Amino acid sequence: MKLFDVYNCYDINLVNGKGMKLSDDKGNQYLDFYGGHGVISIGHSHPNYMFRIENQLHCLGFYSNAVRNELQEKLACKLGKISGYDDYNLFLCNSGAEANENALKIASFHNKKEKVISVKGAFHGRTGGALSITDNPNLSSSFNAEHNVVFVEMNDTKHVIEELSKGDVSAVIVEGIQGVNGVIEPTIEFLESIKLACEQNEALLILDEIQSGYGRSGKFFAHQYTGIQPDIITSAKGMGNGFPIAAVLISPDIKAWKGMLGTTFGGNHLACAAAMAVLETIEEEQLMKNALEIGSYLLDKLKENKKIKAIRGKGLMIGLDMENMSEIRTKLLKEHGIFTGSSGKDTLRLLPPLSITKEEADQFIESLECVLAGTCVA
Ligand SMILES: Cc1ncc(COP(=O)(O)O)c(C=O)c1O
Repeated sequence: MKLFDVYNCYDINLVNGKGMKLSDDKGNQYLDFYGGHGVISIGHSHPNYMFRIENQLHCLGFYSNAVRNELQEKLACKLGKISGYDDYNLFLCNSGAEANENALKIASFHNKKEKVISVKGAFHGRTGGALSITDNPNLSSSFNAEHNVVFVEMNDTKHVIEELSKGDVSAVIVEGIQGVNGVIEPTIEFLESIKLACEQNEALLILDEIQSGYGRSGKFFAHQYTGIQPDIITSAKGMGNGFPIAAVLISPDIKAWKGMLGTTFGGNHLACAAAMAVLETIEEEQLMKNALEIGSYLLDKLKENKKIKAIRGKGLMIGLDMENMSEIRTKLLKEHGIFTGSSGKDTLRLLPPLSITKEEADQFIESLECVLAGTCVA
């Protein structure tokens, strides 16, 4: 059997990882400024992560939600404290798309409406509902049509309020910081105004913090730079440092009932152990503070380079606009062994582990300067 050939991937076979560093089967070394798509939060092969997972494996790897799982309760308690959402309820699942799918369903169950307002350029995942609120028709099949969705420009408060005032909107969904669309932030004014308008029109505000959450922005969730509390928050990527786990954080005003949601694998014992190790490490190593400090350092230093046309982001979610981005990205990888991401046509996207050091940041800055100046010695 061959693989279904859907990924446009580098022909590199990674076999080892430690912190920010990766190596392949040929012994080549890399620096990970992409974190496997923003997933590696506490660093590759973190000792506490390995200890927690290994220990759990010796006890019990999996059982379904047919039995009470105390690890889920402990995880909910810790996540509530560290995120500042102590009074919210937690539903655990397996991927970002699944978290958003559940969030949309919860909103619709709650207010018995179906229309959703999403933002142009949004990416929310590739399952049916998540795809319908994603602004990229190339990803949809005709099977995915027929959802009632309106797309608005980012920060177009007037348009959102106009739509909400029609009274038929179930939810507004916004990314904490748009990732795939070039690291674009909603303004504080936009989020605060639409939260208020949602309350006035019996609609729910969903914040997709799948990429921008879990400390990446320097706050636990990126929307915490504002004064709002969304009704529902979705989380995934950094949550398990690579172990598949995702979450929906749900306001206490929304009531659950037996059978409302469900999943076989969601919140299983191993996934909870991984997620617990991540939260412990974020706390013990003060990784949110580190994300803010190293992120600000990178932003300040990179601003000095005139070849970078625009710089956006918060903490360790950074977008750099430049000419020939794709070529520069390839050179960074091939000539300097640095993995980066891209978003859109011109934006180089950085999503390194939150444990990055200043020396590693300097190594990136130097390499990028060298590639942009065309002075590298291959
Ligand atoms: C903001 C955002 N939402 C949702 C998703 C979908 O997550 P997953 O690929 O885990 O389904 C992604 C993935 O890139 C994302 O960046």
